[in-house]
Amino acid sequence: MKKRVVILFGGKSVEHEVSIISATSIYRALDKTKFDVTLIGIDKRGKWLLPDESKQLAGSSNPKLVSLNKTGEQVSLLPYDSENKNLISLKLNSTLNNQVDIIIPVLHGPNGEDGTIQGLLELSNVPFVGSGVLGSALCMDKDMAKRIMRDAGIPIVPYLCYKRNEFKINSNKMIDEAEKKFGYPYFVKPANLGSSVGVEKIKNRDEALIKLKKSFQFDTKILIEKAIDAREIECAILGNNDPAASIVGEIIPQGEFYNYEAKYIDENGAELLIPAPNITSDQLKKFQNYATLAFKSLECFGLARVDFFLDKISGEIFLNEVNTFPGFTPISMYPKLWEASGVTNSELLNKLIELAIEKFNEKKENQIDYFDNE
Ligand SMILES: Nc1ncnc2c1ncn2[C@@H]1O[C@H](COP(=O)(O)OP(=O)(O)O)[C@@H](O)[C@H]1O
Ligand SMILES: [Mg+2]
Repeated sequence: MKKRVVILFGGKSVEHEVSIISATSIYRALDKTKFDVTLIGIDKRGKWLLPDESKQLAGSSNPKLVSLNKTGEQVSLLPYDSENKNLISLKLNSTLNNQVDIIIPVLHGPNGEDGTIQGLLELSNVPFVGSGVLGSALCMDKDMAKRIMRDAGIPIVPYLCYKRNEFKINSNKMIDEAEKKFGYPYFVKPANLGSSVGVEKIKNRDEALIKLKKSFQFDTKILIEKAIDAREIECAILGNNDPAASIVGEIIPQGEFYNYEAKYIDENGAELLIPAPNITSDQLKKFQNYATLAFKSLECFGLARVDFFLDKISGEIFLNEVNTFPGFTPISMYPKLWEASGVTNSELLNKLIELAIEKFNEKKENQIDYFDNE
């Protein structure tokens, strides 16, 4: 029998539009002889759309218009452990004809890649692709992720971390500390975001206050980091307990750094090179080893894209971040890295679904009674 796969996409996030492109690409690549696929879109207010509306959202060049299409009806999952898991129409309080075997949360950034949706999926007792609550939450918080990686012996860029309430009380102290530790330029970024939103390069004291303020608009916690004059190298990971690492690719941003415009607006904003040129076999091994070690230390499952900085002068390697649901569009690094290693998109998704079921079954082995009566 065909497995029933639900692709969750869109979401309350600045990466809503990218998610739509990723979801469409995943929909196309899924083997329809093996899977019955339903698209469930989440609009920018967080409403789960009905399958028909979802299709409109997937095909829409203006996702905002679809969000305006209010039927009042909404789809959800219930935190309920039954044999037949169904999507529920909340308004009709009845099940839709869409039973679920596996969910692929094709959601990027906050509310999708940060453990929140993963919590709902755990409670609903449906196998899902990718990391669980802990791995997703850890990788979303750049401060927490770095602490774990440092503990595992993975090289990270030196950083300071501050809370918004401290900034409001004494911004000068913060600026003094950053200046003393890193000099100029340095980077500031929100702890829990992505897509380079709120990432600023601070070149002198005059612009420090205004750029720190800007970054603090997006989060209550920010990181200040030493600026590395670096090549940006990315590695794709696939697996659960014994994950595989792909070859590495390189991003060459055209501007000063890989900012929001370069990622999504300017078509020529960045160049993708696969494989990354002039990487020694020793360096490749290091990228792959650090990437798998980070994946395991951060309790990731299924997939992740691990991003590095390779210092152009010293050759030092720093692990910058781990993305637990990386972009999956036809031009995204994650699927392209596997393609270059001989794995088609369709095979990649078969494997991800297998891994989701494996992880689900592994967890089911846990005893839930204190006294085992068997
Ligand atoms: N410490 C740093 N040194 C040099 N460039 C940086 C540094 N931190 C961030 N950048 C630049 O900003 C981009 C976005 O920062 P990143 O930490 O990856 O956040 P995001 O999660 O938004 O992608 C990076 O791809 C890189 O171009
Ligand atoms: Mg990044």
